[in-house]
Amino acid sequence: MPDLNQLPDPATTISLLLADESATRALGEALAASLFPGLRIYLRGHLGAGKTTLVRSILKALGYQGRVKSPTYTLVELYPLSRLNLYHFDFYRFRDSNEWREAGFSDYFDHDNVCLVEWPEKAGQNLPDADLDIALEVLGYGEHVATDIGTEAVDASLDAHPRRALLRAHSPAGQRCLRSAALSTLQEGFS
Ligand SMILES: Nc1ncnc2c1ncn2[C@@H]1O[C@H](COP(=O)(O)OP(=O)(O)OP(=O)(O)O)[C@@H](O)[C@H]1O
Ligand SMILES: [Mg+2]
Repeated sequence: MPDLNQLPDPATTISLLLADESATRALGEALAASLFPGLRIYLRGHLGAGKTTLVRSILKALGYQGRVKSPTYTLVELYPLSRLNLYHFDFYRFRDSNEWREAGFSDYFDHDNVCLVEWPEKAGQNLPDADLDIALEVLGYGEHVATDIGTEAVDASLDAHPRRALLRAHSPAGQRCLRSAALSTLQEGFS
């Protein structure tokens, strides 16, 4: 019998098994319906873990019909949607704090916008805290992911591996988003 006091609060932590890309897309659709202005969601995980795939499915579910480019070089893309402004960041190539100031990134993290951020750890201390963290893990891939990723062979084989998504709320806004996203149908339990 598990010690119930040791289990994470379901309003705070949810673990999902994403068997294939369509499961990742289903998560994006569920999250899209529960977004509201001001929300900061940070996406973590190795290269190719599925962060951009998740953002694409969120945008699609919100009615965006254009191409969603990975903002690896531009660092940010803005999507003015009917219901909200969504900023998609990718800080993989972020270099230093001057870049942050010059680009005026702080202004984007305000009450009016939803910010989805890939590679938040690369932005260092500049970023405000996340309301919701989503960590995507490639299952059954061992340590290869860390060392071999980026090669064509590895990239192709990544698609054959399921993902685990660990969603953690860090604020009342994050909890509200998790609760209303109705993720229970996708849920595998707590880890
Ligand atoms: N649950 C899943 N199971 C298997 N493959 C998946 C799953 N979710 C996404 N994928 C595949 O994994 C790849 C993820 O690529 P994506 O560009 O989304 O990764 P990323 O995390 O944004 O990488 P980067 O750090 O380079 O930006 C895609 O080829 C997608 O089809
Ligand atoms: Mg990406």
